[in-house]
Amino acid sequence: MRKKLVVANWKMNPAKGGDAKKLFLSVGAVATKLKTVETVVCPPLIYLQSFADLVKSRSFVLGAQDVFWEHAGAYTGNVSADMIFNAKARYVIVGHSERRALGEDDAMVNKKLKSILQFPLIPILCVGETKRDEDMKYVRALKDQVKKSLAGLSREEVRRVVIAYEPVWAIGRHALRACRPDECREAVHIIRQVLADILGETKHARDSMILYGGSVDSKNTREFLTDGLVDGLLVGRASLDAKEFTQLLKITESLS
Ligand code: PGA
Repeated sequence: MRKKLVVANWKMNPAKGGDAKKLFLSVGAVATKLKTVETVVCPPLIYLQSFADLVKSRSFVLGAQDVFWEHAGAYTGNVSADMIFNAKARYVIVGHSERRALGEDDAMVNKKLKSILQFPLIPILCVGETKRDEDMKYVRALKDQVKKSLAGLSREEVRRVVIAYEPVWAIGRHALRACRPDECREAVHIIRQVLADILGETKHARDSMILYGGSVDSKNTREFLTDGLVDGLLVGRASLDAKEFTQLLKITESLS
């Protein structure tokens, strides 16, 4: 049976290295013992290298929150996929809505994916509509995002990509409202349809991992994983509280 994937996106937190290490170790103490859950912590890049030596288990690994598409050179402030791989991360988040809000578009996301896939790294591609309109424009928006982000990738590469459905309206402290599991299920269905079109068959589209992200906590974990039909979760705020996040991990383990 396939493991569930739970990704902690710490975003730009915490401010102090000591607090970051404490949180990482507290989460690791629980995550390393889980049999059916793989936990990925994506800390700010400045902490990544120092955490690498603390990783002792294949079920508790590191990820980066972003990457630049070039390998090396005069790109002030950027970090390449090579560097992330050399820092012993296994996953890389791309196309998060908070990066898209700063100007990242599907073409840039596509370049980032291609760069990540040159290494033994697993990209976590974030997609999601900004609003749910009555006239179903969000369906087209979601399909377009997936198609454009994955353009030009080989079938094998597409199958390596984890897709996180993150409706922008349900993310963060200022979320409009919670996403319902049936809305999540519908989005998963739409994403799998696009994957089936790209891969030319439904079997592999069913195998692709799809996560849900947007105000996930220990209270709604169960409903997204069961009724939402996802293979895992991408967690923001709730991943910064060790007690809350490890509770979420234990619930995920109990569902397998
Ligand atoms: P949130 O963030 O859990 O704080 O809503 C999720 C995300 O942005 O990935």
